[in-house]
Amino acid sequence: MSIWQKAIEDALVVTRLNIERFDGRFPHVGEKGGPYTLNDNTEWTAGFWSGMLWLCSEYADDPAFREEAARTVRNFRDRMDRKIVFDHHDIGFLYSLSSKAQWILESDEEARKLTLEAADMLMKRWRERIGIIQAWGREGDAQNGGRIIIDCMLNIPLLFWAHEQTGESSYLRVAERHARKSRRFLVRGDGSSYHTFYFDPATGDAVRGGTHQGFADGSTWTRGQAWGIYGFALAARYLNDPEMLDTAARMALYFAEHLPEDRVAYWDFDAPATTDTKRDSSASAIAACGMLEIVSQLGESDERSAALTETAKASVESLIRNYSTHGDPQAGGLLLHGSYSVRGGDSPDDYTIWGDYYYLEALMRLERGVPGYWYERDKIVTATAD
Ligand code: GLY
Repeated sequence: MSIWQKAIEDALVVTRLNIERFDGRFPHVGEKGGPYTLNDNTEWTAGFWSGMLWLCSEYADDPAFREEAARTVRNFRDRMDRKIVFDHHDIGFLYSLSSKAQWILESDEEARKLTLEAADMLMKRWRERIGIIQAWGREGDAQNGGRIIIDCMLNIPLLFWAHEQTGESSYLRVAERHARKSRRFLVRGDGSSYHTFYFDPATGDAVRGGTHQGFADGSTWTRGQAWGIYGFALAARYLNDPEMLDTAARMALYFAEHLPEDRVAYWDFDAPATTDTKRDSSASAIAACGMLEIVSQLGESDERSAALTETAKASVESLIRNYSTHGDPQAGGLLLHGSYSVRGGDSPDDYTIWGDYYYLEALMRLERGVPGYWYERDKIVTATAD
């Protein structure tokens, strides 16, 4: 049995028990090193639990995973109907890994319809004058009205997918314009990144880079870098765009070259590294998935692929050995030492449900070649918006 397979088997045991422990509620983050806090599908993170259940259902011959995954999608239907906490761009995370996953795996028409409704909700956050998808807050919001954040690169695959499904060009236009603007303003020349960037909402003029959860405005928050690695790689796949792929690869090489000895990232590449500096295991799990996605597009013959494959495998192996709860069925989650916000003192050293999801996705990519639910497995859009 490979090390990946063994880690998946261990993850299945914990996830099976968590179905009972969570009892229909949704995990978000751990608190003070303890178990997950639970909610009724009100957080931006609820889709990751759904995605984990779909991944488990693909791997294991156990109907419990599929039944619970389908139940979460029914819950996401209710969240849509009642528009519960929809005032943000993370609609992409929520519905890509829940209803879109069900569509990809089961061709369920209701799931497809729900996912397209989610794409339409995300489209409402497009600000034509500035040419961005507004991450947070209401239109015209003084602080966030002209602000993009790099995390959004994992939300726009929902729009690329909606274009692929419907042929409606507005989805593609918005996703492509947002991706190109993010590439220009969030990614720096050395392959590092700003977490966020501000534009003047009235004129659309670029104002400045900044951060929300990072060490400093000009620093590189490691999870933001990871969102960029994976997000630009997915945009490259949908747009069939070598420049976008090159951006993803440059960001991935920056990430790889700035890792500490155990190959798992601290929370910010510019935070002084001491014995007390927090890690973000989730950043390394996301980055590993992104690196494997990049390699799948570059091909083995590209000289960058060897370094990225080596880093992805070494990081996931370190996550298994040094950061996971493998071998402990009573553990409340899969991956320890994630940080939601070190800067804000919010779960700085805890379980994060997105960390668990990407850890499992990385394992599934390595063991089975299963790439999660960001794109259809047999269809790739090659058109660009006019
Ligand atoms: N997208 C929010 C976060 O990464 O914390």
